[in-house]
Amino acid sequence: MKTAIYPGSFDPVTNGHLDIIRRASTMFDKLIVVVLINPLKNYSFSIPERVALLTKVTEGMRNIEIASYDGLLADYFKQRADIDVIVKGLRATSDFEYEFQMAHTNKDLNPRAETVFIPASANTTFISSSMVKQVAMFGGDLSKYVPAVIHEEISVKLTGEFEEKRRAAAKKRGEI
Ligand code: COA
Repeated sequence: MKTAIYPGSFDPVTNGHLDIIRRASTMFDKLIVVVLINPLKNYSFSIPERVALLTKVTEGMRNIEIASYDGLLADYFKQRADIDVIVKGLRATSDFEYEFQMAHTNKDLNPRAETVFIPASANTTFISSSMVKQVAMFGGDLSKYVPAVIHEEISVKLTGEFEEKRRAAAKKRGEI
């Protein structure tokens, strides 16, 4: 039995991530999608929120497990003897250098941690979580970028967050 792990921030999960999840889940007996933290990023969604969104969009996919971990991917890999390989998506050559560094760092930290790359499907190569968040903050149409079952949750959360930021900025300028 071959088990792969697909790590990421998933802030929030997009159709691009779902493309990789679907395709990887047909290549391995089991796929663990794990929400991790990049300490250099500011997140809009909490870990439980990101896990809940991933759980919703993968409902009905039988060999998927959703998990989260507050630590190094290499350590999570060490703790779970059932994991064979790390899967990452590559959208463009611009992803390559960062992903290459991460793959080598993970292998350096845990020699058992090999990474395989899956090329993103052509129609998802331009999607990113930041792009989705910007569109959502301005109330734009998310239907091509995010699974329909989570549109509303994402829109409500991000328009609310953006409104708060606008209000705080106006207050700072003394306008309210
Ligand atoms: N389709 C659409 N978007 C995709 C994508 C795909 N197939 N693959 C990646 N992306 C996007 C993400 O949405 C994200 O967009 P954003 O920058 O606008 O938010 C971006 O590409 C990067 O995504 P991700 O691969 O999740 O990178 P990350 O830097 O957010 O997180 C972790 C990387 C969490 C996996 C990494 O930091 C980690 O392993 N953290 C744990 C601590 C650790 O071990 N650190 C050392 C690692 S060397």
